[in-house]
Amino acid sequence: MKKTILTGLRPTGNLHLGHLFGAGQNYVKLQDEYEFFLEIADVQALTDNFDNPEKVRRNVKEITMDLLAIGVDPNKVHLFIQSRIPEIAELTVFYSNLVTVSRLFRNPTVKSEVAQKKELFGKDGESITYGFLGYPVSQAADITIFGGEVVPVGDDQLPLLEQCREIVRKFNNIYGDILKEPEQYLSNAPRLKGLDGNEKMGKSLGNAIFLVDDYETISKKVMGAVTDPNKIKKDDPANPDICMVYYYHKLVTPEDELKAVCSECKNGSRGCVACKKQLIENINKLLDPIKERRKQYEDNPELVDKILEEGTIFARNRAKENMKKIKEAMMIDYE
Ligand code: TRP
Repeated sequence: MKKTILTGLRPTGNLHLGHLFGAGQNYVKLQDEYEFFLEIADVQALTDNFDNPEKVRRNVKEITMDLLAIGVDPNKVHLFIQSRIPEIAELTVFYSNLVTVSRLFRNPTVKSEVAQKKELFGKDGESITYGFLGYPVSQAADITIFGGEVVPVGDDQLPLLEQCREIVRKFNNIYGDILKEPEQYLSNAPRLKGLDGNEKMGKSLGNAIFLVDDYETISKKVMGAVTDPNKIKKDDPANPDICMVYYYHKLVTPEDELKAVCSECKNGSRGCVACKKQLIENINKLLDPIKERRKQYEDNPELVDKILEEGTIFARNRAKENMKKIKEAMMIDYE
């Protein structure tokens, strides 16, 4: 029997290259080896976008099309919408007894997100909502309602997984050993840096190349990328290791071509403009087939609806089965 994998994405924006290299390529690999539940976490997205429901609604479909475009296969992966699985909300309530408020306040992921969202939650987090503080509890329900054993996440999510394991242990101690403790599956791709040299490529940082960006947008973004500041003239020798253009070449440029990029940069025989143009071309080569596949879904939106509908029905059935066992264990099985 295949092991069960579950992961989720908040539908707050389109996927960018950071998602593709950090997570997306992994999904495509894992879908052959595991029973894979992929959640579009709209309820979680609302915890910090409750005042912008249009954005969340629109991005459910956008992110689904992005995932299908990078090669997530709907015949292998159960793609579903979180809000359509009421058992998740129900289980969140049950779990909320098993976690202290102070523990949630100490969760490093929650802490750093609250610090980033000052306009929403106040300068010192004094306006944090009950819903946002509690989203790690709801994420534990996301994972365990499907019997998730393996969770592919970035390292920023590890405290949430630890919190989930704590809840599982406590549940099993009190109500009997019925839940599985999930383990993480860390992508071996390091976090992708931004074109501006920032440690992270992110939508909110304004330094991301989205999978749906057109040629002109990609060209503008790459042309603005940070290069070796000591290279003033076109034929100055430079250090590729401190250049964001070379950093991206390493991801998208074939090996022999890459060797030339590196040596020509070092000996000064390559100007930055030509080097950037070559990078643009190679990014387009990577993204063209993705955009092509995406277009098939854009042209047939009913196909996307059908995929989400089928994935959701499958996920809902699994959630119902597990909820029955959970309620029995908790002695609230009146049906
Ligand atoms: N918190 C995750 C993120 O922001 C998204 C998510 C929702 C998730 N539910 C999940 C990740 C369950 C792993 C497992 O990226």
